[in-house]
Amino acid sequence: MTDERVVSPRLREEEIALDASLRPRRLSEFIGQERVKTNLRILIEAAKGRGEALDHVLLYGPPGLGKTTLANVIANEMGVNIRITSGPAIERAGDLAAILTNLRQGDVLFIDEVHRLGRVVEEILYPAMEDYALDIIIGKGPGARSIRLKLPHFTIIGATTRLALITSPLRARFGAVYRLDFYDLEAMLAIVRRSAAILQVQIDEGGVEEIARRARGTPRVANRLLKRVRDYSQVRADGRITREIAQAALTLLEVDDLGLDDIDRKVLRTIIEKFDGGPVGLDTIAAAISEEADTIMDVYEPYLLQLGFLARTPRGRVATRHAYEHLDIAYPQRPEQPALF
Ligand SMILES: Nc1ncnc2c1ncn2[C@@H]1O[C@H](COP(=O)(O)OP(=O)(O)O)[C@@H](O)[C@H]1O
Ligand SMILES: [Mg+2]
Repeated sequence: MTDERVVSPRLREEEIALDASLRPRRLSEFIGQERVKTNLRILIEAAKGRGEALDHVLLYGPPGLGKTTLANVIANEMGVNIRITSGPAIERAGDLAAILTNLRQGDVLFIDEVHRLGRVVEEILYPAMEDYALDIIIGKGPGARSIRLKLPHFTIIGATTRLALITSPLRARFGAVYRLDFYDLEAMLAIVRRSAAILQVQIDEGGVEEIARRARGTPRVANRLLKRVRDYSQVRADGRITREIAQAALTLLEVDDLGLDDIDRKVLRTIIEKFDGGPVGLDTIAAAISEEADTIMDVYEPYLLQLGFLARTPRGRVATRHAYEHLDIAYPQRPEQPALF
């Protein structure tokens, strides 16, 4: 069942291909995130005007909002090559040195999950980002000496779902830091229309709306839902997507009106039914529903917070009145609440 999940944190192979085919290539194709795009346009134009490499860029926000896409778009707009890696993939200092020495002037090195870089690797990155220099130690013991290699001027684009886990020295070396937000409905409608056109799916406005509305402000989820609804229509109807078809398919997938899936509802129900609405620690919630705490924090919690269903307090997570109402559970009168006049 894990694979069938709509809000799954993991990408299956088939989906990596889907992601690639639906990925905007240029800023002009990239829908929404207007503030980030405006800032990026200026950053890119200024760097190009000076004939320099782009400043290092850090992109953060929940999964599926377009960080990897934007990194590729930036490289395209700059007209440079992009090399893609990730924090956990760079295990040793030598791995990073090999990557860096192979970059050319202006190239982009995209480091996904940049918060998961090892400390030793990260320390090599500091002078590389700041001075375009690589300090290498040659030899061992008392005879060891350090030499400094010059690197071409390149651009690091880092992506993370957890800004708080980026060490401050690393964060300080990114000249531009942008947060990607959940997309508004208008942007989601445009994304569903665009993806449907690329996939050559016949869909009417009612269908577009139904999918866009339930995609939790996340383009990757919209693309997933579109594909599932297309499958449903192909098997149960004539391949076209209408509002009714989309509603029937999404109900079958247990995606509710607001785009919550069964895990979201489990998180809320657990807090409400097992822990009296909270506060309760994230690890406790995770253990109670047998999910990884990281997955809940990265994938589920941001949207529940955004909806105002969940609140973070110093003592843990609390389910709000809106969460009770959405799940049709009576909101208890709490003794500590002041009486209303
Ligand atoms: N602004 C956007 N407009 C259209 N499609 C988008 C946009 N942002 C993301 N997508 C689509 O969503 C999918 C996931 O985006 P991705 O860049 O992989 O997210 P992230 O790296 O933040 O997890 C991609 O297939 C991409 O096509
Ligand atoms: Mg990504």
